[in-house]
Amino acid sequence: MSDPFANVDAASPEFIEIIATALEVRAADPSMLPVIDGFLDRLAPPDGGLIVDIGCGTGGVTRRIADRFGRANVLGVEPSAALTGKAWSLAGDHPNLKFRNGDGAALDLADGSADIAILHTVLSHVADPSPLVMEATRILRLGGTLVVCDADFSKAALGLAPGDPLDSCARAFVAGSVTDAWLTGKLKPLARAAGLTVAHFDTAIRVVTDGIGNLVWVRMAAARFVTEGVIGQPLADALEAEYHRRAEAGTLYGFLPFVTMIAVKAER
Ligand SMILES: C[S@@+](CC[C@H](N)C(=O)[O-])C[C@H]1O[C@@H](n2cnc3c(N)ncnc32)[C@H](O)[C@@H]1O
Repeated sequence: MSDPFANVDAASPEFIEIIATALEVRAADPSMLPVIDGFLDRLAPPDGGLIVDIGCGTGGVTRRIADRFGRANVLGVEPSAALTGKAWSLAGDHPNLKFRNGDGAALDLADGSADIAILHTVLSHVADPSPLVMEATRILRLGGTLVVCDADFSKAALGLAPGDPLDSCARAFVAGSVTDAWLTGKLKPLARAAGLTVAHFDTAIRVVTDGIGNLVWVRMAAARFVTEGVIGQPLADALEAEYHRRAEAGTLYGFLPFVTMIAVKAER
């Protein structure tokens, strides 16, 4: 199965809407904000410096970066034209925020032009993360910082009991919508191969017990199953209804670790 995040524009308009909504919901979800703020708290861009959010999607995280660092210039780069368009339309009034359509493996930025590069849940969706880490390193100035924050999708869970259908949705989401569910264990060697020095590495657990923060697992798994003829629309609707029922009943339990690695392009 191909990961729709690896080539968003190849998906149907309906599926792109599901992806865009899911990215916006996650970026604003109270259970996600400590993960995002956890790495932003560790950054101190210089006034007038450049922060590049590579693979920025609809720009939900990019907007938060622009809010947090109002004296820095923030550029979101996104290969999907559809998502880049959404990012612009959602950008609001941020004078320090721009978006650009482009591939993270071939950035239209000069060597050493950025102070901070961020890859937020991008590398788990590409077949080979190495060119993106190399390219992020190329655009960093000496002393600049790369942040990689990604989910350990191998541990994703949404179940209350063995065989729980919602847990099956979480597993189906990972099988169908994540390229490398085991990426996070490979991050340190990726940074070292690019010549970076790992300065920080931590894990935060995101647990979703209410709201729609993990609905995307059910929605994308069910939509794919319906498209492939595995299940009918009534079961897809019932799975989504069950998610909402648990959120209401207080029995929703979505579990996903996020790893943050901060690596520095050392002065030579
Ligand atoms: C799960 S989304 C994360 C979006 C955003 N970083 C966020 O956290 O909201 C993965 C993103 O990676 C992008 N992506 C996929 N391949 C890429 C590449 N080669 N270079 C840059 N971004 C890429 C996708 O288009 C998508 O927007």
